[in-house]
Amino acid sequence: MSLPALNLAIVGLGNVGTGVARILTEHPERIVRRAGRPVAIKKAVVRDLTKPRDVQLPAGVLTADLDSVIKDPEITVAVELMGGLHPAREVVLALLAAGKDVVTANKALLHEYGDEIFAAAREHGRTIAFEAAVAGGIPIIAAVGQSMSANQIVGLQAILNGTSNYILSEMLLHQKSYQSALSQAQALGYAEADPSLDVNGTDAAQKLGILVQLAFGTKVPTAAFHVSGIDKLEQTDIQQATALGYAIKLLATAKLVDGKLQMSVRPTLVRKDRPLAQTHGPFNAVLLDGDVVGSVWYSGRGAGQLPTASAVTADIIDLAIGRAQLTFKQLDLWGESSAVPVLPESETYSRYFMRLIVEDRPHVMADVTDILGRNNISLSSVIQPEAPEVEATAGVAQVVPLIIMTHRATTGQIASADAELAKLSTVRPGRVLLAVAD
Ligand SMILES: NC(=O)c1ccc[n+]([C@@H]2O[C@H](COP(=O)([O-])OP(=O)(O)OC[C@H]3O[C@@H](n4cnc5c(N)ncnc54)[C@H](OP(=O)(O)O)[C@@H]3O)[C@@H](O)[C@H]2O)c1
Repeated sequence: MSLPALNLAIVGLGNVGTGVARILTEHPERIVRRAGRPVAIKKAVVRDLTKPRDVQLPAGVLTADLDSVIKDPEITVAVELMGGLHPAREVVLALLAAGKDVVTANKALLHEYGDEIFAAAREHGRTIAFEAAVAGGIPIIAAVGQSMSANQIVGLQAILNGTSNYILSEMLLHQKSYQSALSQAQALGYAEADPSLDVNGTDAAQKLGILVQLAFGTKVPTAAFHVSGIDKLEQTDIQQATALGYAIKLLATAKLVDGKLQMSVRPTLVRKDRPLAQTHGPFNAVLLDGDVVGSVWYSGRGAGQLPTASAVTADIIDLAIGRAQLTFKQLDLWGESSAVPVLPESETYSRYFMRLIVEDRPHVMADVTDILGRNNISLSSVIQPEAPEVEATAGVAQVVPLIIMTHRATTGQIASADAELAKLSTVRPGRVLLAVAD
C-alpha cells in the first residue's frame, strides 16, 4: 500500500513547468514506483489564465493566485519555475516560510540569492533541491553532491552553456560566421533575443560557481575568476585551431593546484580527439576528476523542456521519499570548514594560443618573440602563413596573421606580454588570446 499522495504546486507553467506537469500526469505508475506514493499537482500558478497550455490539468488547478498555494497546508512541495530574480526570490522565501520544500531550476536566482535562500530553508527546517539549475538534464548535482562523496574532486572541465556550444559547433562544422551561427541559434530557440549572458560567459560562470561550491565547499563570486565568452571569436580562429588539431569550446574549469583552486570560464582550445571537443550542438558535458575514482564523464541535453523537467521531477521524487532532505542536510557538513582557497587570477596558468595580425616586415617576428621571451614565455610553435599575392600599395604595409602556441605561462606573464605587444606599431589591434586545455 502506497503512502498518501504528495501534494505539489508548480509555480510557473511555461516551458519547463509544462514538461514537469506532463511527466507527472503521463507516467503516474512510474512516479508511484519511484516515489513510493502518488504525486498530485494541486495548483499550477501562472500570470495569464487565458494562455493556451500544452498539458491537461483538472479544473481548479490552474490559478493566478499564489496565496492559494502559500495558504494551503496540504501542499508540502512547491516547484519554482517562473525564472528571473524578482519576484522569484520573494516567492521562494514565502514558500519556505509557509513550510514548503522548494525545487528550483533557477540558476540565476541561486547565484544571486543562494545564501539567503539556503539560510531561510534551514531556519524553517525545509529543503531546496536544484538538480535542473546546472546542465539541465545531466544529473550533475547528484553526481558532485552524492555519488562522488568518497572522493575529493580535484578537477572539473565542463561545457555548461548550450547556446555557446551550438554557435561554436556551427562555426566549426558548417564554417558559419559568429553572427550567422548566433542568428540560427536564435531562430531555433537555443538563444534568447538578448543572448549576452550566454555568449559572454556569465551563464556558464554562474553554473560553475554552483558546482564549485558543492565540490570544493568554496563560494566564489564570478568577479573573483576569469570569465570571457565566445563573442569575439572569428571563423579564422576556428580554422587556425583546427589546423593545429584543436576545437574551440567555451570551457568552464576548476582544479586544485597545490591546495588552491584555479578556475575560469573562457573559450579554450581542446584537442580534437577529446570527448569534450566532440560535444556538439546544444549539448552540455562535464568531466569530473576524483582522487579515488579517476575521471568520470557526463554528457547530455543541457536545456529544453523535457530534459530540464526530467531533472526537476527527479528532485520531486527525491523529496517524496526523503532523500533530498538528507542530501540538503549533508551540505551543511561540508561548507566553510572544507573551503578551498582560490588562486589569484594572475597566478593561474595555462598554455596559450595567440593570434596576432602583424605587418609583413623584417624584424616583426623577432620583436614579438623577444617580448614573449622577456616575459619568460616559451613557445611550442609559431606559424606565419604567407601573405596573399596582392599588389603592394605605396606606404601601406601588408598584414599577415601570426599564430603562436606557448608552453605553460601564468596569466600575469601573458597579460604583461600582451600589454607590450599592444604597444608595438607593427602589431594590429584585435589580438586573440585563448587558453589551451591540459
Ligand atoms: N527552458 C529551459 O530549457 C531551461 C533549462 C534549465 C533551466 N531553466 C530554468 O527554468 C526556469 C523556467 O524556465 P522556462 O523556460 O520554463 O520559463 P518560461 O517558459 O518563461 O515560463 C515561466 C512561467 O512562469 C510564469 N510566471 C512568470 N512570472 C510570474 C509571476 N509573477 N506570477 C505567476 N507566474 C509567473 C509564466 O506565466 P505565463 O505562462 O502566464 O506567462 C510562465 O508560466 C527558469 O529559471 C530557467 O532559467 C530553463
